[in-house]
Amino acid sequence: MPTLQIIVASTRPGRVGLVVGQWVHERAVEHGAFDVELIDLAEVNLPFLDEPKHPRLGQYQHQHTKSWSARIAAGDAYVFVTPEYNHSFNAPLKNAIDYLYAEWQHKPVGFVSYGGLAAGTRAVQALKPVVAVLKMTPVVESVPIPFVGQLIDADGRFQATDSLTRAAVGMFNELKRLDAILRPTRSQ
Ligand SMILES: Cc1cc2nc3c(=O)[nH]c(=O)nc-3n(C[C@H](O)[C@H](O)[C@H](O)COP(=O)(O)O)c2cc1C
Repeated sequence: MPTLQIIVASTRPGRVGLVVGQWVHERAVEHGAFDVELIDLAEVNLPFLDEPKHPRLGQYQHQHTKSWSARIAAGDAYVFVTPEYNHSFNAPLKNAIDYLYAEWQHKPVGFVSYGGLAAGTRAVQALKPVVAVLKMTPVVESVPIPFVGQLIDADGRFQATDSLTRAAVGMFNELKRLDAILRPTRSQ
């Protein structure tokens, strides 16, 4: 089975991103088409990009970069779980993306975004040119979560609506389809 990596972008103490990411992880396991891995950028804890050479050369000096490279290279498809900060995605996600190059290429990526009324959609629009330059294929089927705070229950768990669950299934289906199409191009 292809490996789907769910990447939780928010690193803030008190973030809602982790419980949203855990919900995405559970739905992806339930979907059944992938080996699923949850990657929490707070745990990965990358410093601001500190490699002297352009990532396209793959000549990494630091162990944290080598570990991050090996981890992302093992993924066949990704879901970025992103908050919206000031109408864009957050700095830790940009930093984590910028560290690598070939590792991301020719793989599909889906977006789970959240925020207020706009459901993090402006963060996704800002992400699209970034993933495009890395030759990733963004899937149209996304999961935009409006007023995310209202969906966190008293125990701190994310309580999704049925429409969000259906949207997640649509996104996983498309990630699976695109992985099958893109996979042969990766071995060329
Ligand atoms: C620095 C900052 C900027 C924010 N900007 C926006 C914004 O532009 N649009 C929005 O809908 N919510 C915005 N919010 C509210 C976030 O959607 C909300 O705090 C959410 O819980 C952030 O995700 P996190 O808890 O996983 O970090 C902002 C929050 C922070 C901390």
